[in-house]
Amino acid sequence: MSRFITFEGIDGAGKSSHIDALSQWLREHGQRVVSTREPGGTPLAEKLRELFLHDEMDALTETLLVFAARRDHLRACIEPALAAGATVLCDRFTDATFAYQGGGRGFDWSVLGSMEHWVHEGRQPDLTLWFDVDPVIAAQRRAAARVPDRLERLDVAFFERVRAGYARRCAEHPERFARIDAAGDVGAVWQQVRQQVNRRGWW
Ligand SMILES: Nc1ncnc2c1ncn2[C@@H]1O[C@H](COP(=O)(O)OP(=O)(O)O)[C@@H](O)[C@H]1O
Ligand SMILES: [Mg+2]
Repeated sequence: MSRFITFEGIDGAGKSSHIDALSQWLREHGQRVVSTREPGGTPLAEKLRELFLHDEMDALTETLLVFAARRDHLRACIEPALAAGATVLCDRFTDATFAYQGGGRGFDWSVLGSMEHWVHEGRQPDLTLWFDVDPVIAAQRRAAARVPDRLERLDVAFFERVRAGYARRCAEHPERFARIDAAGDVGAVWQQVRQQVNRRGWW
């Protein structure tokens, strides 16, 4: 049965690592899986991603760009995949816009809610795994792993605001949010991901 699962959290929290792990686990259990990411996931949205990650812009432009990319992603990738019975695993989705542009940049929360309403047309994730970790730990992981992009270069105070944005979304949508304590080692985090999936009895 098709499910839409989103992976959220600040840069370095462990989202990508666990999308790969859950994708493999689901395939081993006979599920068709589509792994995708935001911004991105379609040819058009990937072009918008390049602009988003590397060009300086204000918070409104950033928000419009990411919702434009999301619109294409929903229409051309996510909705068709769900209609075909696949499980869609998405590395970041609209909660990230609330956390980064709303929490991090201070953009108006209710305007984001209006854009969400227009762009989603009722679609929401069935489960959102929020990888919650101290920004200092996340920064140490990123520094060890890769060259930072435009947003990853922002300071710990920014990521504290992003984290608070995620906490607010989690409190507003408890029916689909699952908080994962992402500070532990990879094995401990994976156990929590498995638990959250298993307890829903979907597969
Ligand atoms: N629980 C963990 N403990 C230690 N290192 C981790 C953990 N999870 C991921 N990492 C490492 O931290 C880095 C960032 O992880 P990644 O999955 O890319 O995070 P994200 O996609 O959230 O930015 C990678 O090098 C990854 O191997
Ligand atoms: Mg990642």
